[in-house]
Amino acid sequence: MIQTSGESTSGHHAVVKGRLITIEGTDCAGKSTQARLLAESLAASGCPTLLTREPGGAPGAEVLRGFLLANRTALDPLAEAMIHFAARIDHANRTLRPAIAAGLTIVCDRFFDSTMAYQGYGQGADPSAITTLIRLLDLTPDLTFVLDLPPAEEQRRREQRGRSADRYERLGPEFLERVRWGFHAIVKTHPERCILIDASPSPAEVHARLFALAQARLP
Ligand SMILES: Nc1ncnc2c1ncn2[C@@H]1O[C@H](COP(=O)(O)OP(=O)(O)O)[C@@H](O)[C@H]1O
Ligand SMILES: [Mg+2]
Repeated sequence: MIQTSGESTSGHHAVVKGRLITIEGTDCAGKSTQARLLAESLAASGCPTLLTREPGGAPGAEVLRGFLLANRTALDPLAEAMIHFAARIDHANRTLRPAIAAGLTIVCDRFFDSTMAYQGYGQGADPSAITTLIRLLDLTPDLTFVLDLPPAEEQRRREQRGRSADRYERLGPEFLERVRWGFHAIVKTHPERCILIDASPSPAEVHARLFALAQARLP
């Protein structure tokens, strides 16, 4: 059984504590593909599973997502980070914490490491301010996969998908390099939770690795 964040988790009585798995990385690294495959395999293995995403994942947070994705006016990077955290706190309190309490295994497509990588490392918002927001949120993933792809391969996938440049891509290749290295730095800083994953093999190969690691790390 896979629920998505639009569905209610009420009525589910599990004895196990839930857990939170986050999938991180740059645009077109394969996060949404892998989040879906991982949720499907976890559900097939008998774990009640919730697939969700950020920004969004709760009705109010989805409204903020709409704003963040549509906005074309430059915002101070810390201000932008705080809007992401406003959405994240709504998502955490309305969707994630109830799901964890109900014993669900959550697979979340992007989480706070994206804010640190994009607004912190990428755009120069004060990392200690973002760390303060992370502390305020008070919800740390049990396991984080950071999908890593060289920019050239990312660009190839983007063109193949026919997706036009988003506002982050328009900040230029140096920005995307800083975000990528930011994710590397996050993995080095939090080795107890984060695993860097080479995202260049086929979707099935990357998935097999993620599923095996998830089973090994979260018995
Ligand atoms: N391992 C892979 N190898 C080749 N193409 C991939 C792989 N994973 C995803 N893709 C393709 O790349 C594009 C971006 O994938 P997606 O999962 O949407 O990435 P993200 O959510 O990280 O932006 C899609 O067209 C998808 O089909
Ligand atoms: Mg995606």
